[in-house]
Formats: sequence, C-alpha cells, structure tokens
Amino acid sequence: MTQHHFPESFVWGSATAAYQIEGAANEDGRGPSIWDTYSHTPGRTLNGDTGDVAADHYHRWADDLGHIADLGLDAYRFSIAWPRVQPGGSGRFNQAGIDFYSRLVDGLLERGVRPVATMYHWDLPQELEDAGGWAARETALRFQEYAAGIVGALGDRVHTWTTLNEPWCSAYLGYASGVHAPGRTEPAAALAAVHHLNLAHGLAGRVIRELAPAAELSVTLNLHVIRGASESEADQDAVRRIDALANRAFLGPMLDGAYPADLLADTAAVTDWSFVRDGDEKQIAVPLDVLGVNYYSSTLVRAWDGVSARSDADGHGASTSTPWVAADNVDFLPQPGPYTAMGWNIDPPALTELLLRLQREYPNQPMMITENGAAFDDEVSADGRIHDDRRIDYLRRHIGAVADARAEGADVRGYFVWSLLDNFEWGYGYDRRFGIIRVDYDTQVRTWKDSAHWYQRLAATGQLPDA
Ligand code: FCB
Repeated sequence: MTQHHFPESFVWGSATAAYQIEGAANEDGRGPSIWDTYSHTPGRTLNGDTGDVAADHYHRWADDLGHIADLGLDAYRFSIAWPRVQPGGSGRFNQAGIDFYSRLVDGLLERGVRPVATMYHWDLPQELEDAGGWAARETALRFQEYAAGIVGALGDRVHTWTTLNEPWCSAYLGYASGVHAPGRTEPAAALAAVHHLNLAHGLAGRVIRELAPAAELSVTLNLHVIRGASESEADQDAVRRIDALANRAFLGPMLDGAYPADLLADTAAVTDWSFVRDGDEKQIAVPLDVLGVNYYSSTLVRAWDGVSARSDADGHGASTSTPWVAADNVDFLPQPGPYTAMGWNIDPPALTELLLRLQREYPNQPMMITENGAAFDDEVSADGRIHDDRRIDYLRRHIGAVADARAEGADVRGYFVWSLLDNFEWGYGYDRRFGIIRVDYDTQVRTWKDSAHWYQRLAATGQLPDA
C-alpha cells in the first residue's frame, strides 16, 4: 500500500489562463486575439459565450491573490496575454499590459507564492493569424520577439517560465478540427502549426535562458495515454500512430532533438514537412528544467475494420473535421464511466502510467503536473456552500495516482489544480465549471467550494486526506 504523503519540497499550486479569467478585453490597449474573433463568431461557442468579462480578474487580481494566499499555495500558474502586452503581435509593446503582469508577479512574491508564467495559452494576436497564424514560420519568430519583451520586463521575478500550453490543442484543434480558434480545418496547416509551435518553444526557450538565467524553463504538454482495444497488430498500430501525432510530435523534437520517423511517414500524403529547416530541431531541443504535464482522461483506439460504424469519441469536441491528421482508419472508442461534465472518462491509473512512461523514456527530466481537475455541475446548497464531493474524489484519486508514480520512481515535483476559479471553458463557455472556487458570473462573487477547503488542507499537510 502506497503512503500518500508528499514531502515538504513538493509544490502545490493552482492554474488559470489569461483569456479564461481576465475579461477587460478592450481595456488599457489590449488588442484582439484569435479567441476574441472566434468567440464572437456566431455558433462557435456554447451559448455564444465570450471572454469579454470572464471572471473579471483583470480588475479583481488583488482579491484573487488573496484567495491563493489563503489557500496556502506554494505556486500560481497563470498566463500572459500576448495581445495585452504586444497588441499587434509584433513591434510596439503596451506598457499598461506589462504593468498588469508586473503587479501580479510582485503581488505573488509579496505573498510568498512562486509565479509560474505561461507565455502562450492560445490567445494569438489576430494580426498574426491574418498573416498566416501558426501555419506560418514568421509567427514563431514573432513569438521570440514577444518572449524577449516580456522576459526583459519580468525576468527572473518569474520563478518558472512556460513557453507554451498544450501546443497539441493549438495546432490540431485550432487548424484541423476547428473546434478552437482560429477554427481552421486544414490538415496540412495543422502539421505546419505543430512545427512552428515547437520552433517557437525552442526560440523562446533560448531567450529565457539568456535573459533570465536564474529562472526555470518549462513547457506544458497535454500528453495522451492511448490504449488499444485489443492486442491485435492493427489495433496496436493505431496506438502507435496516435501516439506519434499526440505525444511524440512534441516530445520528439523537444526532448530528443528530432521528429519521429514514423510520424513523417504516416503523414507523408498530407505534407512533406519541408517547413522543417536545417537546424530547427536542434533549436527546439532546448534543455528543460521541468516538463509540465496536463492530464484529464485517457484515450481508447482501434483500427477501423472498414465495416462497423465509425466512432470518434476522443473527447476533443464535435466537428465534421478530425483533429487526427492522416489517421482516417483509427476509431476513438467510448470509454467506460464514470465521466465528468465534459464527458471525459475518469481514469487515475492512466496518469500513473503516463508519468512512469515519461520517467522511463526521459529519466533525467523532472516533471510537474501543470493541470489536472474536473468539471461537474456544481450546486449551491441551502447552506450557501458548494459540496463538490465528486471533484474532491477526482482530485484525491489523481493526486493519489501521482503519489503512486512517485513511489515507483517518477520525478514529479509539483501539482497544479485546474482551476483556481470557474472560468471561460473555451468552446463550452461558462457552462463547464472547473474551479475549486466558484464564480457567480452575475456578481463576480467568489465562494470556496468544499474542494478548496480540502485542497488547502492538503497543501498545508502534504498528507492526502481520506475520502
Ligand atoms: C486544458 C486547457 C485549459 C482548460 C482545461 C480544462 O486543455 O489547457 O485551459 O481549458 O483543459
């Protein structure tokens, strides 16, 4: 039986992202991003929700820092909105935007909380999308310039810099299935986006190393745990193919310095990958202090037999275009429950499996869980409290899964719950609540859910409480 105890040095945090919480979309010189455009396009988000106001964090940041401090967290992972600090995505920086993040970082430091800043959590300045977006190499160069500006301003006051959040989503959901901004459905562009995001990571990573040598460097990936429906050769080949698109397209260049050969072969009918130039892969493989891992649920695939009804239950939203480029013969099967309000299956052992795989393949690479959490249909009870037992159970089991992986040797150094606050859940708008703190969107009042109290105890003791 594993002892579910974490050492004093283990980092407890919570995570958010700019567009999901800040609001103030048109204030203090912020420019439009692809998510403003997308969410304002009829039919793109549930109920037509946008991030215009969100959790109004731009105005309430000091109170929100108070909650982080009261929770007793060691670290806070937030993202910087590129269009707030460099509205057009190139050239001029916006001092008011930089000042906002500067105050936020200082506010965290004053409260003894480690700032963990993500440079890109999906809000590309619209002007850059108009010039080709992530399908264009130029965007990676613009990202390098943006990185230099923001690291120059915040430097090593930021404890950990994270270049990108989930480039998988940016590339495939943004450019192949179109369920995320910019909503394009062009498979070849999606693979070009994969590469230019990887390149952006490498270029920015080098900027961070140079301008903030004392800071830690990381990237956050949503790695998939993919299981085959059977041990058959065909099903296992489906696993291999999806693993290449989902995981090794990023781990390969970032940690091994090369794209996997099978990925290039699998996708040869879509692109010849000529957008990868000599030296790019070397640039991308900047050594990381910590690999950020986001995990929510697992994936079950099989090779399509050519006869049965197709199944696309990959958990990545409904679209007539697939995010899985050049994988037309792979079916994504529904998984056994229970499920969260996202319809995602709950599978804590898969997290242990993922961490042990990474430990095996990259034995010298420390890791952090940079997102894990669950949406449920929370209710405010008559006593005014939110008894979110299912969220507590989800967190307890997943943090237990992290402890299990650590017990078997995985070098996992921290855990960030998604999310501090209820927020704009992308295509699902305000309908899906992930916060450990409830946001009443009419009044912007914050109320701790039971899970927040539970997490506070965990952060204080390092001891995983029983059910
Ligand atoms: C991740 C995103 C995060 C949030 C969670 C639920 O894919 O990084 O912004 O939406 O999912």
